[in-house]
Amino acid sequence: MSEIKTFRLDGVAIEFKDGDTIMDAALRAGAYIPHLCHNPEFTPHGSCRVCLVEVSGRRVSACTQPAATGLDVDNSSGAIVEERRNLLQMLFVEGNHVCPGCEKSGACQLQAVAYYTGMLSPHYTHFFPQRSVDASHPDTMIDFNRCILCELCVRASRDIDRKHVFSISGRGIGSHLTINSPGGKLGDSTFAATDKAARVCPVGAILPKHRGYEQPIGERLYDRLPVSIVGDVAAHESGDQGDEHD
Ligand code: SF4
Ligand code: FES
Repeated sequence: MSEIKTFRLDGVAIEFKDGDTIMDAALRAGAYIPHLCHNPEFTPHGSCRVCLVEVSGRRVSACTQPAATGLDVDNSSGAIVEERRNLLQMLFVEGNHVCPGCEKSGACQLQAVAYYTGMLSPHYTHFFPQRSVDASHPDTMIDFNRCILCELCVRASRDIDRKHVFSISGRGIGSHLTINSPGGKLGDSTFAATDKAARVCPVGAILPKHRGYEQPIGERLYDRLPVSIVGDVAAHESGDQGDEHD
């Protein structure tokens, strides 16, 4: 009989298998660690840092840190929650996340994680970047103002759709999402609304056309239950606001 291996997450024993990250084992055990760029269908990316936890005095990303016997993982102390909240506030001010005017409000994972983490205001000064909206595709639009560079669409298009429609270009503050097509527009790319990449965006950057506000705000995915219970928006997305919780 194989030995059961465990680590402790906020004092609770979590079983893990060889090859698991802290995130893998925690989610399988039903323990929520806030995250945005992580999706169990894709290789870990470790870019948003929202899943930061403390292990033996070190801050690590739970989605990339291998689980190991005897680890003592802090996922919810006041210091960790505050750092996470700061990261979320920076994501809000770096892009133009104006929730009351966003079609994704109520079904946005960034907004839901911010609520879960107790974020009450953006705190920092807004950058108000000037970014474009690409509405060239007949079925899907991209609002670059809301992209948090999680690369979920990049990974979905590359690894599942086998199309490589999206890439990240530039470095640091100049990093941005680009479309791989002759004109750099979604409309002349090989993207289709049925692609996996159309259904993984955790924010209101990739949006379906023709059904705006079809589902009333107040009745959407995270309007009724917190993200810690509902889980990732990508697990619910079907091109709409992701409501599968009736
Ligand atoms: Fe992530 Fe959405 Fe930006 Fe793609 S468009 S990188 S899925 S936030
Ligand atoms: Fe781990 Fe983004 S979810 S770094």
